[in-house]
Amino acid sequence: MFKTHTCGELRQSHVGQTITLAGWVHRRRDHGGVIFIDLRDRFGLTQIVINPTGVDAEAFKRGESLRSEFVVQVTGAVHARPSGMANPKMPTGEIEIIVHDLQIMNPAKTPPFEIDNDGLDTREDLRLQYRFLDLRRERMVHNMEVRHRFVKFIRDYLDDRGFLEIETPILFKSTPEGAREYLVPSRVHAGQFYALPQSPQQLKQLLMVGGIERYFQIARCFRDEDQRADRQPEFTQLDMEMSFVDREDVLATVEGLLTEFTERYAAMHDKVLKFKPFLRLPFAEVMERFGRDKPDVRYGMELFDVSSPMQGTEFLPFQAKNVKGIVAAGCANYTRKQTDELTELVKRAGARGLVVLWHDAEGFRNSGAGAKLSDAEKTAIAAAAGSKAGDLVLLVADDKRDVVNESLGELRHELGQRLKLGNPNELAFLWVIDFPLVIWNEEEKQWNANHHMFTSPQDQYLDTMESDPGNVKSKQYDLVCNGYEVAGGSIRIHRRDVQERVMKLIGITMEDARKKFGHMLDAFEYGAPPHGGIAPGVDRLVMIFCGAPNLREVIAFPKNQNAADTMLGVPSPATERQIKELHIALRNPVV
Ligand code: AMO
Repeated sequence: MFKTHTCGELRQSHVGQTITLAGWVHRRRDHGGVIFIDLRDRFGLTQIVINPTGVDAEAFKRGESLRSEFVVQVTGAVHARPSGMANPKMPTGEIEIIVHDLQIMNPAKTPPFEIDNDGLDTREDLRLQYRFLDLRRERMVHNMEVRHRFVKFIRDYLDDRGFLEIETPILFKSTPEGAREYLVPSRVHAGQFYALPQSPQQLKQLLMVGGIERYFQIARCFRDEDQRADRQPEFTQLDMEMSFVDREDVLATVEGLLTEFTERYAAMHDKVLKFKPFLRLPFAEVMERFGRDKPDVRYGMELFDVSSPMQGTEFLPFQAKNVKGIVAAGCANYTRKQTDELTELVKRAGARGLVVLWHDAEGFRNSGAGAKLSDAEKTAIAAAAGSKAGDLVLLVADDKRDVVNESLGELRHELGQRLKLGNPNELAFLWVIDFPLVIWNEEEKQWNANHHMFTSPQDQYLDTMESDPGNVKSKQYDLVCNGYEVAGGSIRIHRRDVQERVMKLIGITMEDARKKFGHMLDAFEYGAPPHGGIAPGVDRLVMIFCGAPNLREVIAFPKNQNAADTMLGVPSPATERQIKELHIALRNPVV
């Protein structure tokens, strides 16, 4: 080994020992002919002192030539820092190394950005282009460590409970997960393609038919969809499936895992559970109260309903079946420009407009909508809203309940972020259950699976699946945390007849079904056990544990917003020969 200790390890108890450290020059200061170095490795920082009297002239010269990010090895004695010079902020702050010898193992060019800050102010494209330097930052090391701890914990926790970790292929075929897929042309089979898996959904179900009973995988998934802060084209799921279980068994496994991880590593991520056990609400109630299927329930700001007191109103915008609103506490000082922005936001979410009421000391301000509503109506709104002086009351009306709920849900989400209503130290896990089995696709004029087509309808709806599909509830469950969907899963269909009925309902012809999913239908005829599973998103959970603003902060080599890696130059053109071998042709060849 090039070192006897790490740079995060030495304490008062090591004083007097001769040690060797190796790492990077983090900072260098010269004081009256003495050189001070903060030497860094993954484990921390140690102060190194190079004294002209302590080393030979050559070594001192080498010390003088040191610059940031040079790789060095030092041998020296551990000393207590002179009195008053200890640094309580550094774990190694009580000691320093008085150097006897110093070797430069590699010089370094001046980095394109400083390493000794959290990096959040550095341009992200530069950080990603030089990711190998960005990863040296303390914050990035921390994020990688949380990720490692989480995955290791998952493996141990599930191993203790009889799960087997099984790998499934990456060269796969189309999966009905809903996103666009990445295709890989086959050289051996001209004109045929592999698809990269959007998830191992079908394979994990086939593992259940294969008698594995308890499966998991830290599975890489691929989806060619528009990038967002919480989406990457390739991401990692904790993919799980269990046989002979009902919903409660799956939820208990995941809830137990996340609870134990959160509590055991609380010191590492600085977060506590807001709900223990996790909150659990039916989808319909979630939409009524929060307007979003993945609400941040660290704070209240629930939707209130004034549909019935507004019946028969003279106020034109409220002449609709549904009138609901939210209270933006303490926002009565919002300017017209700010409320116009909020109006734009609800319009983008489908609403016709936003009614704004300013709650002053005397009640609702007598201007705009406040001047047009009757006193009785204003009293009813204030009572339902529970607003007080200083608040802004925001209302949306529409005949379609979904439009009212969803636009207010977006508004609640936006205001929650602007007003920083979520306590950053809390994890508010919420199970959403009782989802609809199918949703109507107005564009394609057909029913689509709400989760995926292998999700089982709830038993009491089996008879009405064809006659009243819109009201069928499924055995799907989602886990939400702090406004993000962090897991999705369901109890599956395990009988061929029910699977065929669901496929038919969502417009898959039997011919198509046999071509694409014949293996599933076949497998269901050979004693498929009742089974169900779930897939928590590892990247999303780690992002939340780390308090990171996006997934790129918790993935070592992420893709940027354009699904590219500028450090590696990915994607990149293929040679003509490769293209020919793959039996494909480019319509617009890039030269
Ligand atoms: P679903 O599509 O809901 O379910 O995905 C499960 C979880 O994976 C994470 N996730 C993503 N994370 C980062 N980037 C993405 N592009 C991305 N897409 C999804 C989310 C999500 O909750 N086969 C089913 C699971 C099952 O039924 O067991 C599935 O993939 O955290």
